[in-house]
Amino acid sequence: TTVFVLNGPNLNLLGTRKPEVYGTTTLADVEELCRRAAGEHGLTVEFRQSNHEGRLVDWIHEVGAEVAAGRSIGAVVNAGAYTHTSVALHDAIEGASVPVIEVHISNVHRREEFRHHSYLSPVAAGIVVGFGVQGYVLAIEGLRRLTQE
Ligand code: DQA
Repeated sequence: TTVFVLNGPNLNLLGTRKPEVYGTTTLADVEELCRRAAGEHGLTVEFRQSNHEGRLVDWIHEVGAEVAAGRSIGAVVNAGAYTHTSVALHDAIEGASVPVIEVHISNVHRREEFRHHSYLSPVAAGIVVGFGVQGYVLAIEGLRRLTQE
């Protein structure tokens, strides 16, 4: 059984981008953290990143098909800035009936006003905000509990 971990725009720069906000851990390190966390529960991680909104939409559809086939428990999604702009991602998550845990490394609510609104939150099963990269681990754990217990 797989858990998808989908990352949106600029998260490929993790480690060097605003380290005072996002830390110095790289996305490759995050992938390793996720593999370890999921592996403890016998889950396989499908870890991806794209700077393109439509690709993320396609991936949500793919997760939907995998969930429907019983091969995946859903997705952990850090949509980056598309969180605050993308009706398309909102509709994809809703339309594909994908269990999604929304993740933000930083506490978006103590940052700029434009980061306070999320198009994903109303269609997310849960939200993990402000725990740094450990939020991915918490999100995998949360998704597992919501879908497998
Ligand atoms: C982010 C927060 C977003 O506001 C921002 O655009 C990002 C990263 C986070 O993980 O804290 O790219 O999703």
